[in-house]
Amino acid sequence: MKSTDNVKLEKTQSTQSRSVKGIITSIATREGAGFAVRRPFPTQSLSLVDPFLLLDHMEPVTLAPGAAKGAPDHPHRGFETVTYMLEGHFVHRDSAGNSGVIGPGDVQWMTAGQGVVHSEMPDDELIKNGGRLHGFQIWVNLPSKEKLIAPRYQDIPSERIPIAESEDGKIWVKVIAGQSMGKEAVIDTRTPITFLHAKLKPGAKLVQPISTQYNTFAYVIEGKGFFGNEQIPAETDQLVLFANDGATVSIETGEHQELSVLILAGLPLNEPVARYGPFVMNTQSEIVQALKDYQAGRMGVIN
Ligand code: FE2
Repeated sequence: MKSTDNVKLEKTQSTQSRSVKGIITSIATREGAGFAVRRPFPTQSLSLVDPFLLLDHMEPVTLAPGAAKGAPDHPHRGFETVTYMLEGHFVHRDSAGNSGVIGPGDVQWMTAGQGVVHSEMPDDELIKNGGRLHGFQIWVNLPSKEKLIAPRYQDIPSERIPIAESEDGKIWVKVIAGQSMGKEAVIDTRTPITFLHAKLKPGAKLVQPISTQYNTFAYVIEGKGFFGNEQIPAETDQLVLFANDGATVSIETGEHQELSVLILAGLPLNEPVARYGPFVMNTQSEIVQALKDYQAGRMGVIN
């Protein structure tokens, strides 16, 4: 092979669109005090997408007065919880005295680190009068050396999160982490992560550059799209897992259907994962220590 052929070959590989490794349909389950979620992982068919540990989709529902439920006081250690709301408001309070409201389009990126006790509840109005609720929670693992860092919050209101739009108006991307179509996120992540919410009108094609090293998936919030270089179809509540065989991810829509989709990608940690409920560490003995610290009140209490 001539050297110019080599260059050509490398170029083709580096710009190649990834293929699809699998489609996972989420399961219906309950979280916290009993609110319904759709969960593509962790499930029997997919335990994690390193560094992502969990994706919960609080599906769009209209709740009757008194029906809204949340997650009362509970601890976390060793990872980050990311909440992204689309409809309704969640009130957050924690053992360090922080509190806030997460509303439509807002993101809360909480680094639990060594440990927090917090509550995540629908606001009083939603509990009392009922209303719409729709959102996501994603758990992002922390590398071993950062599992016990001090907790940190990034509460980012919707208006501070950059939006990228294609010239023809067919593609809208909210850039929560990483970058897309020339816009860069304001949220700071501990390890390299891309988190996008994309909306595609009919007949659109999004080609998002993502490092080949990043594990990448898309989750269809609503609609139907065609994914990867073989245009594999996926629809509402399905997760599309991409192979690490190209430097771009392509998503397109048919002529008559729109698509709303989350795209998540991250550099894998490649470390052992020991998880028990709200604690995610590297070893079983670290889990036992987390339980002891929580029970002894060393992660604090909510006043
Ligand atoms: Fe939580």
